[in-house]
Amino acid sequence: MSHPGQPGDDAQAIALEVVTATEIADPIRELVLRPVNGAALPAFTPGAHLRFQVADGQWNAYSLITLPGEAATCRIAVRREDAGAGGSRFMHGLKPGDRVWAQPPRNDFALDDGAGPALLIAGGIGLTPLISMATDLAARGRDFRLVLAARNRAAAAYADRLADLFPGRVTLHLDDVAGGPLPVAALIADAAPGTHVYVCGPRPMIEATRAAWAARALPDAQFHTELFDAPQAEAGDQPFEVEIASTGQVFTVPPGKTIIEVLESGGVDLVYDCQRGDCGICQTGVLEGIPDHRDVVLSPAEREAGTLIHICVSRAKSPRLKLDL
Ligand code: FES
Repeated sequence: MSHPGQPGDDAQAIALEVVTATEIADPIRELVLRPVNGAALPAFTPGAHLRFQVADGQWNAYSLITLPGEAATCRIAVRREDAGAGGSRFMHGLKPGDRVWAQPPRNDFALDDGAGPALLIAGGIGLTPLISMATDLAARGRDFRLVLAARNRAAAAYADRLADLFPGRVTLHLDDVAGGPLPVAALIADAAPGTHVYVCGPRPMIEATRAAWAARALPDAQFHTELFDAPQAEAGDQPFEVEIASTGQVFTVPPGKTIIEVLESGGVDLVYDCQRGDCGICQTGVLEGIPDHRDVVLSPAEREAGTLIHICVSRAKSPRLKLDL
């Protein structure tokens, strides 16, 4: 297969070689890789990810999976997104011996360093960072529960293995058997005081969990999320205008395009990272207009205030937004 070229301006990039590529669920493939130069992967902590170059200028993030008893390994699991931009299909096409570039490990979803219980909630392929967290929590003797939600048995990657590795700590929820999605509100209602919650999955799951957390008025500092979903266009999306406060320039953002895409193509310099409403780096002040929030960063109170927006995913409910740029 063809590989993207070496990232010319990225001296940090690591060349990795695929050791194994294994189908573990529908349509999920596990890849184990190692640095081509024989060195160890730079140190990383539970919840860390690598960004792999899947095309020239395109990098996809995949969480590193560490299982109990193994040294730091470059193990990832990739769900093939047939309607996506092609990055997951590229990763699914890799076979042993193929080489790929990655940026050094980075962690935007780190475990707290306390001693209290942890509740790990995974939706689909969102379980990958939580596996590494469970491994670390078990090694440190911390109390934890790992709840895995999947559409059906065929999609439940790692479920049996994790139940064996962490006896008595893993709960599997299958939507087709239960007749609906994981009841996250009940999980949060049962959480003991002092529990830290880690939720990784699609946006509706994160939003439902955050709403249940807020309803109990529990501390924001004990609620941790990572989004595992590409931003989606939503039915009824309308074009809207964005005004740049510092220059007065006005751009029109059509359905299917993000504010970042439109502003960048108009020559506006922006700072961003995840492009899925998860990391918070693109957060921008709103001076006028009403944001349509689609991130998982802002709290309910911040959403209500309407003075901040994540321009990688969020849109507008008003005809124009004036941004503090
Ligand atoms: S770039 Fe990460 S939230 Fe927008």
